[in-house]
Amino acid sequence: MEFRDVVRARRSIRSFSPERPDPALIDEIIDIARRVPTAGFSQGIDFLVVDSPDALATVWEAGNQEQPDDGPPVLVFVFSDPERYLSRYREGDKAKFSLGEADAWKIKFWDVDASMAAMQLQLAAVDAGIDTWFFGMGDAEEAIRERLGVPADRNLIGIIALGYRAVDEAPIGSATTRKRRPLDEQLHRNRW
Ligand SMILES: Cc1cc2nc3c(=O)[nH]c(=O)nc-3n(C[C@H](O)[C@H](O)[C@H](O)COP(=O)(O)O)c2cc1C
Repeated sequence: MEFRDVVRARRSIRSFSPERPDPALIDEIIDIARRVPTAGFSQGIDFLVVDSPDALATVWEAGNQEQPDDGPPVLVFVFSDPERYLSRYREGDKAKFSLGEADAWKIKFWDVDASMAAMQLQLAAVDAGIDTWFFGMGDAEEAIRERLGVPADRNLIGIIALGYRAVDEAPIGSATTRKRRPLDEQLHRNRW
């Protein structure tokens, strides 16, 4: 698919068929996702794939929710790793920036980089014919982290559902009720 067609084809799919994408294809998509630019080439991004029936059930149970029949067959949790950036920025070539402590970072590049990876993952998935849905975790995060053994020092950026849309899937959510902002409202050139 042409890149611009991939971008246009992507939309949040919230109702999935039970068919699980080939795990090797998911690995390929994550290999593409991790190739985003990262500050200092720190590469502090981790992906946790949840695709076994048991692990999926654990996630739903930890979230205190009944697993729906049209739930996604694959979830990818995307994490940033702040410590990897702090230690990278204490190295000789970066020490001059004085970014060895988290508070010194006006923008936390670890979260920037992991967010870019989450986007690249979604586009790679759509390019591979797989539907996606990015969402946040909310109150269930702590319980899910504990059940899945996630290290305490990682930031959860978001979760990406992967799979194939259900035959009767229809768009829902904010994008169906709100208009896209006009380009000239968001694009500023040469001066704000
Ligand atoms: C940071 C972030 C958090 C989101 N959280 C949720 C969520 O909790 N539940 C949900 O249904 N969609 C969530 N979405 C999806 C957005 O609602 C969706 O991307 C937006 O309405 C535009 O629709 P589209 O993805 O179909 O273009 C989230 C998206 C982002 C980027």
